[in-house]
Amino acid sequence: MSVRVVRVETPEQRAAMTAIRMAVFVQEQDVAPEREMDALDDDPSTLHVLAVDDDGSAVGTARLLPPHDSGDPAHIGRVAVTAAARGLGVGAVLMTALEAEAVERFGEVVDGVRTVSVELSAQEQALGFYDRLGYVARPERYLDEAIWHRDAVKVVTSPDTARDAPGSVTGAT
Ligand SMILES: CC(C)(COP(=O)(O)OP(=O)(O)OC[C@H]1O[C@@H](n2cnc3c(N)ncnc32)[C@H](O)[C@@H]1OP(=O)(O)O)[C@@H](O)C(=O)NCCC(=O)NCCS
Repeated sequence: MSVRVVRVETPEQRAAMTAIRMAVFVQEQDVAPEREMDALDDDPSTLHVLAVDDDGSAVGTARLLPPHDSGDPAHIGRVAVTAAARGLGVGAVLMTALEAEAVERFGEVVDGVRTVSVELSAQEQALGFYDRLGYVARPERYLDEAIWHRDAVKVVTSPDTARDAPGSVTGAT
């Protein structure tokens, strides 16, 4: 499947994002709807993205949160791919796009290499997905919405030249 990753900017894109998260987290995984959509969704510093297929259908979503303080990691979360589109690389494309945004927006240059840490709260059933992308899970497990999670972290780098390059996430087209 060929997908492109776009920023959520329009009411239609926002509705598509919400529909995917409701289907995946609320209906499929039994997360309470009032817990699924939170205040961070409306924070202007949050970047929401959609994966859009060749037909223009939204098939996945994820969000990027900035570091709390200088030196803290950025956070990727609410990674969700529609059931029919799983196993086709959509999740990996979403993660790669948000990692590129994270390093471009929040990375610090060390020896010419732009670097940022990205942290996420991984459901244990999805740890293999994050492991393939290079995330290292911490050993501690915890329950969130009755689902076992572990935090996982990855150091993301890009050449400093990426600073002037266009981001991998495009706006509405
Ligand atoms: C987890 C999820 C986002 C993965 O998205 P996806 O589009 O199916 O994943 P991809 O097709 O990009 O998979 C990339 C790689 O990860 C592997 N992978 C995907 N899901 C996996 C899982 N749950 N466990 C282990 N490996 C997994 C794929 O086999 C693939 O491996 P490969 O590179 O060797 O071929 C998707 O299954 C989903 O939305 N699940 C429900 C919501 C969810 O659990 N979100 C995560 C919350 S922390």
